[in-house]
Amino acid sequence: MSHPKLGVNIDHVATLRQARRTVEPDPVAAAVLCELAGADSITVHLREDRRHIQDRDVLVLKQSLRTTMNLEIAATDEMVAIACEVRPAQVCLVPEKRQEVTTEGGLDVIRNRAGVEKAVRALQEAGIVVSLFIDPDPAQVRESRAIGADAIELHTGAYAEAWPHAQTELVRIQEAAKETLAQGLRLHAGHGLTYWNVRPIAEIPGMAELNIGHSVMARAVLVGMERAVREMREAIKGA
Ligand code: PXP
Repeated sequence: MSHPKLGVNIDHVATLRQARRTVEPDPVAAAVLCELAGADSITVHLREDRRHIQDRDVLVLKQSLRTTMNLEIAATDEMVAIACEVRPAQVCLVPEKRQEVTTEGGLDVIRNRAGVEKAVRALQEAGIVVSLFIDPDPAQVRESRAIGADAIELHTGAYAEAWPHAQTELVRIQEAAKETLAQGLRLHAGHGLTYWNVRPIAEIPGMAELNIGHSVMARAVLVGMERAVREMREAIKGA
C-alpha cells in the first residue's frame, strides 16, 4: 500500500513572526527544515488580510522549495492573479471569512459555481493543478468534477472535532472519498488532523495527500523548547 504524501502547512510560523512584526521565525527557514525531515510539499495560505503569510513569503518559497508548493487562496481575482504569477505546483481554493480563526467550512461549489469555475480555469491555464477544499459531500464532489477541478481536499474538521467518537464523520469522509475516486479526481484531505486521529484518514484507499499544520507546529514548539532554553542559558553564560 502506498502512503499518502504529507504536505506541511507552515502558516503558524508566520503567525508567530507577525505577532511581533519582526523577521523571525522565518517560514522559509521552517520550510527547509520540514523538507529535510521528509515533508512532500509545503502548504501556505495567503489570506486576503495577510494576517500570517505575506506575499514575500510566497515568492521566496517558490524560489527556494525543493519539494512543491500547495498555495491555499480564496477564489478572488486578486488571489488568482497572484497565483498565476507565482505558479505554485498546486493551488487549493478555500472559502475565506475575515473574522474566522481558521478555515471554517468547505467551499460551496454548488452555490458559487460560476466564480469557482472561472478561478479553476484561469489557474489551470497557468499550468497549475487545482484542488478544491470541500466538505465530505458527494454532491459537492460531483459539482467539483463538473467544473473541471483536478483534485478534492476533503475537509476533516468535523471528523477531528468529533474524535474519538468520530465513526459517523469517518464514514462520511470514506463515502465522499469513494465518490472522488469514481469521478476520476485526486483525493486529498486535511484540517484538524493530529498524531492521534490521522491514521484512519491515511488508511482510506486512494488517499494521495494529507495537509497538516496546527498539530505539527504545536509539537515543534514543545519538542524544540528544551534546546531553545538551553541555548539562551549558554548565551547568557557567555557574557
Ligand atoms: N487544509 C486546508 C484547506 C486548510 O485551510 C488548513 C488550515 O489552514 C489545513 C489543511 C491544515 O489544517 P490544520 O492546521 O488544522 O492541520
